[in-house]
Amino acid sequence: MKGIILAGGLGTRLHPLTLSTNKHLLMVHDQRMIHFPLSTLLSSGINEILIISSVSDLPEFRLLLGDGSAFGARFTYAEQRVPNGIAQALLIGEAFIGEDSVCLILGDNLIDVPEINTAMRSHAYLEGAVIFAKPVKDPERFGVVELNHAGKPISLDEKPIKPRSAYAVPGLYLYDATAVRRAKALRPSLRGEYEITDLNRSYLEDGSLRVVCLPDTTFWMDMGTHESLQAAADYVRSAQASSGRKIGCIQQAAVDGGLTVKQPSR
Ligand code: TTP
Repeated sequence: MKGIILAGGLGTRLHPLTLSTNKHLLMVHDQRMIHFPLSTLLSSGINEILIISSVSDLPEFRLLLGDGSAFGARFTYAEQRVPNGIAQALLIGEAFIGEDSVCLILGDNLIDVPEINTAMRSHAYLEGAVIFAKPVKDPERFGVVELNHAGKPISLDEKPIKPRSAYAVPGLYLYDATAVRRAKALRPSLRGEYEITDLNRSYLEDGSLRVVCLPDTTFWMDMGTHESLQAAADYVRSAQASSGRKIGCIQQAAVDGGLTVKQPSR
């Protein structure tokens, strides 16, 4: 399975912090924001990773992360000219994905969830799509999935005014290679974006979407508002202090993922 991190967008909710700095380069306690989704991929053993951002911000990502060889990985970079929606990542990544399955993760998601690592490993050769679901108090802020009594998905809505369930869909999606063809068939939504929920619905409609429910105890948040950015920094600081485990450290994540990490030269 390959990995794509989407790290463009406008970041308007974080103004003025993001007027001159890409959101994913902001500090979250002792790391940059992008280190968290990157750690999620590396710790699952994914070592071919495409990072997508705006043309003006890509040089900073290259400077920060390099080519990945220090972590036993290969990082490549691609441009999203206009932030026209999350599903565009599949089109930008078409050549990179080829015939492989892919994990798409949003660059502002902090996911400290062992169940996701397990699922990513077990779905490395995937047919269809796998998304995750976690009950939240404010589902109207997210993509929302409704499940039947057997835990099977029956509807998907993007930021619904009246959510049909409390299950929000975190910004981490596992797809087979048909995702590219499906993304090409999407039309922009009323807000003018190529919606990832529409791509997921294409899998739902042909019965090939699976949903993994995450336990209440798992920690997931997007860091797209001032409050959530602060809450994420607080979580990282306190979880590290209480467990002694580094969160968002890409060297450690690569070791956990079984990758060959080079020792830094003195
Ligand atoms: P959002 O938080 O929905 O959008 P944003 O980052 O532009 O922020 P705001 O709403 O405050 O203006 O995006 C979710 C993630 O997806 C985030 O990591 C940015 C990324 N993204 C892109 O890279 N390109 C896009 O076209 C979109 C819509 C999002």
